Amino acid sequence: MSTAPYLQRRQRLMAQLGSGIVILPTARHAVRNADTHYPYRPDSSFYYLTGFDEPDAVLVLLPASSQSILFCRSKDLEREIWDGYRHGPDGARAQFGFDQAYPLSELDLRLPGWLANQPCVHYSLGRDADWDRRVLGWIDAVRGQLRTGVSVPPCISDVALPVAEMRLFKDAHDLNRLREAGQISAAAHVRAMQATRPGRMEYEIEAELLHTFVSHGARSPAYESIVAGGANACVLHYVSNRDRLRDGDLLLIDAGCELDGYAGDITRTFPVNGRFSGEQRAVYDIVLAAQLAAIDAIQPGVPWNTPADAALAVLVQGLIDLGLLSGSVAGNIESEAYRQFYMHRIGHWLGLDVHDVGLYKLDGQWRSLMPGMVTTVEPGLYIRPAANVPERFAGIGIRIEDDVLVTDTGPEVLTADAPKHPDAIEALMASAQTGAHA
Ligand code: GLY
Ligand code: MN
Ligand code: MN
Repeated sequence: MSTAPYLQRRQRLMAQLGSGIVILPTARHAVRNADTHYPYRPDSSFYYLTGFDEPDAVLVLLPASSQSILFCRSKDLEREIWDGYRHGPDGARAQFGFDQAYPLSELDLRLPGWLANQPCVHYSLGRDADWDRRVLGWIDAVRGQLRTGVSVPPCISDVALPVAEMRLFKDAHDLNRLREAGQISAAAHVRAMQATRPGRMEYEIEAELLHTFVSHGARSPAYESIVAGGANACVLHYVSNRDRLRDGDLLLIDAGCELDGYAGDITRTFPVNGRFSGEQRAVYDIVLAAQLAAIDAIQPGVPWNTPADAALAVLVQGLIDLGLLSGSVAGNIESEAYRQFYMHRIGHWLGLDVHDVGLYKLDGQWRSLMPGMVTTVEPGLYIRPAANVPERFAGIGIRIEDDVLVTDTGPEVLTADAPKHPDAIEALMASAQTGAHA
């Protein structure tokens, strides 16, 4: 593992902050039930700045002296026999490029001294009550020493904000991982299309996705996979994935892998039997046109909402053309009548978190897209049965989602390997079915 990206990020953050003390604990190892835990995943910002993936660790930065310090678990032969290797402070310092490293048990001993005379504590209050108590306790311990001439830090400032701004602009390491996460996620969607047949269960297709993720070293999905046959696609966060797939229905899959902490996030919608019906194709073509219009609009300097507006105009015109809305495009946008069929946003920043950090507005205005930002583009139409919906459209739910990097020369689609043109999907599924019979 190269420590360089993490070291550079810590140096950039410290240069930006200039003074004070950063305290950033990693995530806890969450209990699943009884004495069984969920697979461990570090806090995204902690991992972004350290590359260190053991639980029970705290990053401390002293910007004025450019010192990076890690507190982590001690070496412990008995625990390592049962649970596996631990770096220990000495190993962590050597392998991860910290200036100092100490056992976690020394936090209370060392932190009050380092907090004395600091102009600011850069710490995210309110995320973890136990850590809040610890940090406030260290500040109070400084207060207890006032008569020795020390001063108490007069402010606590949320370190999440500057780190979020850094994470929003992807560096070379981020992009390398995001591209690979996009490719693996796309390969999983291809495998799912090839495996889908009427009569199979949604969870069988979920298993195909997981097979591709894990066999490429992406040991977990980035979020719960949505494998939604037929009208289940109209439930936006459908994750039960236990219905049987029916001939004539569509299958909506929203799934992406997590690779080294980085998320892929792809949605594809395709026919269970490999051929779109006329109605399905009509709705699909609208969603695809909306998605392509939004991706085209992803240019440097363009406000965040411009791609969203481009997609919305296409969706609303399409709904009018289908007879599902009446009146003008502008009128339906003004009245929000389209929300019956399209009720979510166009997308979100993507990175170590699937809904990644980073502000969408600055000073109340949508911020401009800039090279290095990565966003999803995911328009959809969800046509639930209703009095104003002809039966032939009822139960059709379609979303198409890609991950897009803003570059100087326009959009780079990181997930382009997953086919989305209906002819390409039908051709892929037909060749998979022929292959199965050969
Ligand atoms: N899969 C989560 C999302 O698309 O936002
Ligand atoms: Mn998404
Ligand atoms: Mn998604």
